[in-house]
Amino acid sequence: GDYSGPLRPQVHFSPPVGFMNDPNGLFRDSNGTWHLYYQYNPTELVAGNQHWGHATSPDLYTWTNQPIALFPPSEDAGMFSGSAVLDPNNTSGFFSNATEGVDNVVAIFTLFTPEKQTQDLAYSLDGGYTFELYEQNPVLDLNSTQFRDPKVFWYEPDQRWVMVVALSVEFKVQVYTSPDLKEWTLQSEFANAGDRGLQYECPNLYEVPVNGTDERRWVLYLSINPGAPLGGSVGQYFIGSFNGTHFESDDAAVRYDGFASDYYAEQAFYNTGDEAIAIGWASNWKTTNLVPTGAEGWRSTMGLPRRHTLVNYTRLGYVLTSEPYQLETVHNASLLGNGTETATLSGNDSVEVDFDAPAVHFALEVSLPDNSTSLLSDNSTLTMRLVSSSTNESLLMGYYYGGSNAGTSWVSRAETDGFSHPLFNEKFSHTGVDLATRFDGVWDRSILEFFVDNGTFHADATAFPTALVDRFEVATDGMPDGAEVTLRLWGLRSTWE
Ligand code: FRU
Repeated sequence: GDYSGPLRPQVHFSPPVGFMNDPNGLFRDSNGTWHLYYQYNPTELVAGNQHWGHATSPDLYTWTNQPIALFPPSEDAGMFSGSAVLDPNNTSGFFSNATEGVDNVVAIFTLFTPEKQTQDLAYSLDGGYTFELYEQNPVLDLNSTQFRDPKVFWYEPDQRWVMVVALSVEFKVQVYTSPDLKEWTLQSEFANAGDRGLQYECPNLYEVPVNGTDERRWVLYLSINPGAPLGGSVGQYFIGSFNGTHFESDDAAVRYDGFASDYYAEQAFYNTGDEAIAIGWASNWKTTNLVPTGAEGWRSTMGLPRRHTLVNYTRLGYVLTSEPYQLETVHNASLLGNGTETATLSGNDSVEVDFDAPAVHFALEVSLPDNSTSLLSDNSTLTMRLVSSSTNESLLMGYYYGGSNAGTSWVSRAETDGFSHPLFNEKFSHTGVDLATRFDGVWDRSILEFFVDNGTFHADATAFPTALVDRFEVATDGMPDGAEVTLRLWGLRSTWE
């Protein structure tokens, strides 16, 4: 692949050529190598002819493209989304001739054919690089054309496998169990929950640590498409309990993952110990086949790898927070000159930094004086701008501290010129319940990810300026005496060189 195009992300994963959608089969192997498979059409710039592409990484940022892992068995078939597990005890019986020191990897995926969608197995004797199809596929067949996206994990207390899988147009997530990955028993259905959109897709059930405690809680992540509130696709999640056969949500509230339009089909990595590490597709079905990266021979980017925790907020209850995973791995030097690592703003103030870096990470820390609430007004705002100085295109983000919009974060890609379409939303906003004090953003050529309060809320938005972004600006307006905003700004190194 050629990763030098002006829209090509430099710290995010994007496919060498062709079209990519959902992450699949995510796992960390016994040597610590991360494996990312993905829905892949290697020969066209739109979805169709689905394969499982494959890439590996030591750090989730520096990727090596590997040969395609799963090929459709016939022209009208597709290898649809699914998961992968390690089978060290050879419960499946596929690994009687396993090589010492090589992981036993089984992929569980949906075989799409025009007649139906079934759940099938493939196993790898070389640690996940090449796969054999199980001779007795499928392992689950309901004679349904809308039955897909199996996510499998080992459930330690019962010493057996669990699968969650979507009956998409029936709005059901089914839970199956198995001793050997081959024979599956239906245990329960989680149905009609949350925002149903028009289809349920890509369920992911896993345990997520509760911040600052030893506790872990179960999260069912469920994607819907089409019919999201902003159009097209969106991820949502439920928090609750799981007893090995039944998932029960704590409440009936709808919780979306992300307040912009481009984050979907997130999956968690298998074999990450107590950590919840995940990757989602930074796109939206309603515009993904149209975006201008096609001119560079590729389409779609994964979101930054992220670590999830649950934070229990007094007025919100549990929230699934998202923080970029070990982003310092790709930090280059600070972009703030004159020997200081930070810039400080107060009152009505602004800072402008020109840069020449493949991608950037900015972090703003806001401290408000104790009595500030009464001093905040409609004008008390924070604004951030990423600018192409040659064309004056910009991406804008901001936050309202006072007045009727207090607590609202916003992102706008209206001032970029490389792509317009009636379904391509220009602006996004979200109102939290407490005033935010921490903002992080990563801009990487054609993808903006903005995290509010350590990822309590986030926005993933693709954006397509016609010239490289080379300036960051931040401005405060009407901030009360004693309020202070501290900026840190890093260039990120290209991991594709
Ligand atoms: C979600 C999805 C899945 C399906 C895959 C096909 O984006 O529609 O339900 O398995 O994409 O590429």
